[in-house]
Amino acid sequence: MGSEDDRARLKPCHSQSAICSKLKILLLLLVTNLLSIFLFVGNFDWMGPAVHLRDSGILLRELNATQRQLSDSQSQVSLLSRRLGTANSLLETLLMEIGKVQREAGSPEGELEKWASQLTGELKLVVGSHKLPFGYTPNIGSDELYPVLGSACRLYEEELAEYMSYDVGGECPSDEVFSQRLMLKGCEPLPRRRCHPKSPAGYVEPAPVPESLWAIPADTSITWDAYTCKNYSCLVNRGKAQGSYDCKDCFDLQAGREKHRWLQGNGELDYAIDEVLAMKPAGTIRVGLDIGGGSGTFAARMWERNVTVVTSSMNFDGPFNNFIASRGLVAIYFSVAHRLPFYDNTLDLVHSMHVLSNWIPDAILEFALFDIYRVLRPGGLFWLDHFFCLGEQFNVTYVPMFERIGFWKRRWNAGRKLDRGIEMNEWYLSALLEKPMT
Ligand SMILES: *[C@@H]1O[C@H](CO)[C@@H](O)[C@H](O)[C@H]1NC(C)=O
Ligand SMILES: *[C@@H]1O[C@H](CO)[C@@H](O)[C@H](O)[C@H]1NC(C)=O
Ligand SMILES: *[C@@H]1O[C@H](CO)[C@@H](O)[C@H](O)[C@H]1NC(C)=O
Ligand SMILES: *[C@@H]1O[C@H](CO)[C@@H](O)[C@H](O)[C@H]1NC(C)=O
Repeated sequence: MGSEDDRARLKPCHSQSAICSKLKILLLLLVTNLLSIFLFVGNFDWMGPAVHLRDSGILLRELNATQRQLSDSQSQVSLLSRRLGTANSLLETLLMEIGKVQREAGSPEGELEKWASQLTGELKLVVGSHKLPFGYTPNIGSDELYPVLGSACRLYEEELAEYMSYDVGGECPSDEVFSQRLMLKGCEPLPRRRCHPKSPAGYVEPAPVPESLWAIPADTSITWDAYTCKNYSCLVNRGKAQGSYDCKDCFDLQAGREKHRWLQGNGELDYAIDEVLAMKPAGTIRVGLDIGGGSGTFAARMWERNVTVVTSSMNFDGPFNNFIASRGLVAIYFSVAHRLPFYDNTLDLVHSMHVLSNWIPDAILEFALFDIYRVLRPGGLFWLDHFFCLGEQFNVTYVPMFERIGFWKRRWNAGRKLDRGIEMNEWYLSALLEKPMT
């Protein structure tokens, strides 16, 4: 946005003289109304009747006079309240006119409208504004509503048009990978669509809770179109095979590492869930979020301790979201760049393992950490589990960043990450951070 645009927006009168004179008239009307209110309030004192108790005739006349004056004042008051009403609606019109002038002067909304006007079909409907049926709504602060979509969606108009191509009311295209990629490129949230996702053929109802927590769902309960593995045995066995996949051993709920995660602390990088919960009064950690929670095991363990944890996950190389949900846990789908969909000061616990690390650009990571601080309640815990980075980044980049966020350090353990050899100088950090009470 150039400086000329800014100037045009700050001084709309220079460029929009017709609307400007309208604005001036509206302002003038507003001022006249306010002036008469002022005069009326000023006058009122002089009209106060003087009552003398000399005789009843005079008294009656004076009472009569007072009555007249009162009824005069009454009609003046009702006149004024009518004028105030007018002033109010003038003010509202004024605000809307200002909004329009700003939009016409090239503000983002104006650009968006211009873009929407060039589009067609479903895409036009999810980009453009829609008038509120009952006009201006103070709670919304506008007379129109915009469908929500990520700002970077505009960079991928062709892909977005493809995403929005379907028969209304029919089946959505099988485009999980395509749409997830669009999301990760910044088109998040994706726009809504008016089509039905493909249903798995032969869906089997989930196992009842608590058995469902450690049960592998039926292969037919999920559509596998998007994944190279076409069944759960493939996903489970993948953990033992070569190759790098996201969270590759976390589908093996029966025999693998997943069965033991977070049960035993080692006094270093591995903390046990029970020792973390014991840091707060019993029962006061009740609701939380696991960012990038893999197959949902952290939330399952927490469920067993009466703590409700929502698990966020992308679907990289596997149906993570469906898998978490089939365990009877809440899966929520947003990327690491997305603002956490929780209100300020509401969660008792946020946990994240492996996901928040040095692959995230510094600025995005710092915003994410502030966002975690925001959603935690005072006294809430942020369990940063195996954050990894290079040795030379540790003290230079990340320690100062964590200190800027403002958490209290309850535990802090740094240790070498050795899976790729000691010469890589890779480090892990596990920390238990508490949001200050004040
Ligand atoms: C008071 O005013 C009424 C009419 O409003 C009139 O009929 C009456 O005579 C008046 N009384 C006196 C004492 O002036
Ligand atoms: C599972 O899928 C793999 C390929 O993804 C296939 O080779 C294997 O036979 C399947 N196993 C079962 C039990 O269906
Ligand atoms: C969870 O809550 C149930 C019902 O209140 C209770 O019986 C159980 O002991 C609790 N479990 C834990 C681990 O606190
Ligand atoms: C960071 O600084 C501390 C204190 O100076 C030092 O003990 C530690 O080895 C440093 N960590 C890394 C990974 O360089």
